[in-house]
Amino acid sequence: MWKKIFGRFIRHEQVAEPFGINHARLPRHVAIIMDGNGRWAKRKGLLRTVGHRAGVDALREILRTAGRIGIDVLTVYAFSTENWKRPHEEVDFLMQLFSEYLDKETQNMHDDNVRIRFLGRVGELPSVLVQKVHYAEKLMQNNTGVRFCVAVNYGGQDEICRAFQVLAEKIKDSKLLPADITPDLVSDALDTHGLPPVDLVIRTSGDMRVSNFLLWQTAYAEFWFTDTNWPEFTPQHFLAALRDYTKRERRFGGIKEK
Ligand code: FPP
Repeated sequence: MWKKIFGRFIRHEQVAEPFGINHARLPRHVAIIMDGNGRWAKRKGLLRTVGHRAGVDALREILRTAGRIGIDVLTVYAFSTENWKRPHEEVDFLMQLFSEYLDKETQNMHDDNVRIRFLGRVGELPSVLVQKVHYAEKLMQNNTGVRFCVAVNYGGQDEICRAFQVLAEKIKDSKLLPADITPDLVSDALDTHGLPPVDLVIRTSGDMRVSNFLLWQTAYAEFWFTDTNWPEFTPQHFLAALRDYTKRERRFGGIKEK
């Protein structure tokens, strides 16, 4: 609780400025593909699972930084609809890790005024995890700090298909005409309803692809790639990405204003 009260006396600008970041130009919504846990572990001669554990530590620091600097939404890709193809030992480990993460971090995130939300086919996760997800979302629902979205069992194409299904049902029930489908209506049918579009995507570990992440929401997003593996991604890297973003010119299909 003291963190919630004390945090209000630190202006986000005071955190951003020493790093040369113009606070007024910060992205509202940052999405991160936390890649390279396995490669990091392999390079060190460790098990992939050790890499995922180290990835949790990195995430904790980035979430704190996002909250302090005043990012509105931070979305992270924790487990894709395609990740079920991994060996079942790794899948089981990841599910256990998410569960442990919620056990350890739910109260800390709540104290930090974080609002957590999960994206994806959450109901299909192991039932113990589903309960913890719902508890965390409910506990933090009235917080006012960074909105932290965790994409688990998430795929962008799957999300769009589910949105189509919702809209098709409305058409079937004569509650909607096909001609009345607009981008706003589609956005409202996605898991991310109510959130602003993604401004900046960060992908670690050298690969330069989207991997079925937030396909609709990244229509005009800026991308920032680094060779650094996720476990070694620090707040300094995060601030560097934010600083780069604040210097970019976004035109959204228009032309530069004079
Ligand atoms: C990608 O690395 C990472 C994942 C598939 C899992 C992401 C999970 C974490 C970072 C743990 C923390 C998350 C939460 C929400 C507690 P990879 O295994 O694909 O690495 P590789 O490409 O080097 O094999």
